[in-house]
Amino acid sequence: MLISGRGSNLQALIDAASDANYPAEIALVLSNVAGAPGLERAVRAGIATRTISHRDYASREEFDAAVEKILVDAAIDLVCLAGFMRVFSDGFARRWQGRLINIHPSLLPAFKGLNVHRQVLDAGVRISGCSVHFVVPELDSGPIIAQSAVPVLTTDDESALAARTLAAEHALYPMALALLAGGRVKLADGRSVFSETPAHAGSLFVPTA
Ligand code: GRF
Repeated sequence: MLISGRGSNLQALIDAASDANYPAEIALVLSNVAGAPGLERAVRAGIATRTISHRDYASREEFDAAVEKILVDAAIDLVCLAGFMRVFSDGFARRWQGRLINIHPSLLPAFKGLNVHRQVLDAGVRISGCSVHFVVPELDSGPIIAQSAVPVLTTDDESALAARTLAAEHALYPMALALLAGGRVKLADGRSVFSETPAHAGSLFVPTA
């Protein structure tokens, strides 16, 4: 898992993976920010951690190559981005295509990029949510694996909407990773292809709390 900060999605995956029946094991947590609070969550769970700062590398490609070496040396199969605030080079994204996923706090393809909840409120949509998707070179644009919808309340500000969405993320990411690690979704010809799973796999609706 690659993080840059708080690591609450990391925690959700740590909790899910603590079940012996979960189809993935979190082998390594890598942060590009020293002291990221998520690292402490990994340490508490007995998971190996690495910190590698992009500031120590002259180019995006050199940083990505260093990350890649760490992943290969640790025999990593799948990479989950969770609040990892770096954009990978096209080469890295292509090499890990189908094995690299991200969570984004909107119903993609709407509201890509940063300040997502501000964008959602400004647009006036009444339903928002979160998406887990395969990473491709273009930002927040890869094939979608799973989505969860949350209501946008008339009383919402950015932090209220972010909190409701984050709770949905914590249910969605473990479910999406289980689909991928369990071989029930794969990337083929630029699409998410599902097999041996219910037709509604990947669709979650979170009622108003
Ligand atoms: C989440 O909202 C995620 O969707 C976005 O960054 C945030 C990370 O939060 N990509 P956390 O570090 O997992 O708590």
